[in-house]
Amino acid sequence: MGGAYEGIYASWKRDPEAFWDEASRQISWFEPPQVVFDPDDGPYGRWFSGGRTNTCYNCVDRHIEAGRGSETAIIYDSPMTGQKSRFTYDEMLVEVSAIAGVLRNHGVGKGDRVIIYMPMIPEAVFSMLACARLGAVHSVVFGGFAAHELATRIDDSGAKVVIGASCGLEPGRIVPYKPLLDQAIDMAKSKPDYCFILQRDQFHAPLRYDHGDVDLSQAMDVEKAEGRIVAPVSVEATDPLYILYTSGTTGQPKGVVRDNGGHMVALNWTMKNIYGVKPGEVFWAASDIGWVVGHSYIVYGPLLAGNATVIFEGKPVGTPDAGTFWRVVSDHDVKVLFTAPTAFRAIRRDDPDGDHIHRYDLSGLRALFLAGERADPETLKWAERMLGIPVIDHWWQTETGWAIAANPAGLGLLPVKHGSPAKAMPGYALEVLDDAGHPVPPGTLGNIVAKLPLPPGCLVTFWNADERFRTSCLEDFPGYYKTADAGIIDEEGYVFVMARTDDIINCAGHRLSTGAMEEVCAMHPDVAECAVIGIADELKGQIPCGFLVLKKNVHRDHALISREIVQLVRDEIGPVAAFKMVMMVDRLPKTRSGKILRGTMQKIADGLPWKMPATIDDPAILDEITAVLKAHGQIASAGKVA
Ligand code: COA
Ligand code: AMP
Repeated sequence: MGGAYEGIYASWKRDPEAFWDEASRQISWFEPPQVVFDPDDGPYGRWFSGGRTNTCYNCVDRHIEAGRGSETAIIYDSPMTGQKSRFTYDEMLVEVSAIAGVLRNHGVGKGDRVIIYMPMIPEAVFSMLACARLGAVHSVVFGGFAAHELATRIDDSGAKVVIGASCGLEPGRIVPYKPLLDQAIDMAKSKPDYCFILQRDQFHAPLRYDHGDVDLSQAMDVEKAEGRIVAPVSVEATDPLYILYTSGTTGQPKGVVRDNGGHMVALNWTMKNIYGVKPGEVFWAASDIGWVVGHSYIVYGPLLAGNATVIFEGKPVGTPDAGTFWRVVSDHDVKVLFTAPTAFRAIRRDDPDGDHIHRYDLSGLRALFLAGERADPETLKWAERMLGIPVIDHWWQTETGWAIAANPAGLGLLPVKHGSPAKAMPGYALEVLDDAGHPVPPGTLGNIVAKLPLPPGCLVTFWNADERFRTSCLEDFPGYYKTADAGIIDEEGYVFVMARTDDIINCAGHRLSTGAMEEVCAMHPDVAECAVIGIADELKGQIPCGFLVLKKNVHRDHALISREIVQLVRDEIGPVAAFKMVMMVDRLPKTRSGKILRGTMQKIADGLPWKMPATIDDPAILDEITAVLKAHGQIASAGKVA
């Protein structure tokens, strides 16, 4: 076992530029890069400066020119609607070009920002590629976010237009997107010129033509009737391809910026070397295009590498049952599946003996990759036992866009250590540092950092916020990128990712900021102060729990106030926040300097051993918190240690 990994990693380490220069030759360039890495550009340098290319061209036209136009590019499978369809690379070009034509006719060009607010339908992917074709910068917003979050993204990106759908579909309910979009535009300071709306059969949204609404399908039909193909625009390797907003430590999301050249080189490399798939094979990332996994492995990675990719509109359970993943794998001959551990926990809960698994022919499936949150060894072992294939945990973040640490199937699998996403991938020199920035011995918990520069494909900065990027990611440990994950690297180089060092929580594989939830709770007129923490949950990994101190003069019913606050978070952030647990307390535990002791509260809630913080102002408050948690049945056994 172990294959080529050690040699490849060593070759990268010896000469990173030669390594990525070699990888860049797999991509088509209109003009090759002049330098592989320019350390003087951007907050930490830029890859492939001087190169000119187009990401859509590389995802679509290149394969057609290579004679593969009649091969499948997109498989759409929607248990929500019962629809299934396929698009070849030739057909995808027609769809993408039609949207690009519509955008261009409405003044969208290179560098303009386009918000995409769509569910898991092929048009969402075509829209992303259409932006890439024009050199426009897309910013996809996940459908589970509410109007306010959408408005923040419209404003921060300065979006010129929005592409939306009339609705999304959640089990048992239609989520009308258009009214949310209208509300967001009303709230936004920066008003988009046009909204292109795809009308779905399940819900036809009234269009506001006076506000620049355009029926997307009708406009595409006009373009298709003209029979023209919009040419891909040549962009700099370093020009932005997309902005993806992700939770930061405040309510203001961070706009992760990905470029064109480095992104293509890195993702293309991963398809063969990490995921071990060959062009033409079916790759399925069961995620959502609103998340980074969707960007990298539903859209760009598989299409760059010439794979067929699955767009799945459904859930791991309940659409209609826990066998739906296996039905999709067998119907479409999926070779590699990628999803979040929470999806597997949901499947295991509903189908513990794997009865559904045995109903399908899964002989084509070679590997299952998990990411997005810590893969608990129990779920991982269950999946291994049930599927009889390698189950591979790998660790990455919205910021990096691809795996920081993985067990690379394409290079030959390393021996598995359960609980570890294996070893650093080429491009990442990982270290574990203490809070003062000193390296800790192997096996010791600390801050996981990556030596700069980051490899191609990682974020180059935050949108319009170089300084915020520097202060939040590069400043604490000079010369390194701070992952904000705490963990361990053992003697053999295996990485163990244990917890975030900031207020981010991971709920059902979704990245959420508890700070943002606190900001919303504090908006309620009855709330004096609050703390939101993530507490362990069997299915979702973590769920948010709000501790609220009410103002002294409030005598309203606590249950009513709780309901109002839950609704407020749903309205302001969105249902995806999964904020349903509220506890009223008299006081919050704090240090003498006034810092809320969220970490200790979390340990108490999770029944983990905890120590009385030396700097605590009033130790009795922790007993009060423990009592409230117990009263809510949210505590296994409080584990205070001396
Ligand atoms: N549009 C609108 N609402 C959405 C939404 C979307 N795209 N996605 C989720 N929501 C809503 C859900 O309907 C739910 O609403 P509710 O509170 O009214 O029930 C709420 O947001 C919370 O959703 P979620 O936390 O996902 O819980 P769930 O019970 O609906 O599903 C799982 C649980 C585990 C099945 C589901 O979270 C899942 O499939 N997770 C995998 C995550 C994943 O793929 N992550 C990407 C990283 S790889
Ligand atoms: P996101 O930006 O949504 O991809 O979330 C990134 C965060 O999810 C990381 O910083 C980790 O905290 C967590 N995460 C992702 N993958 C893993 C993994 N394989 N093991 C442990 N944590 C993970």
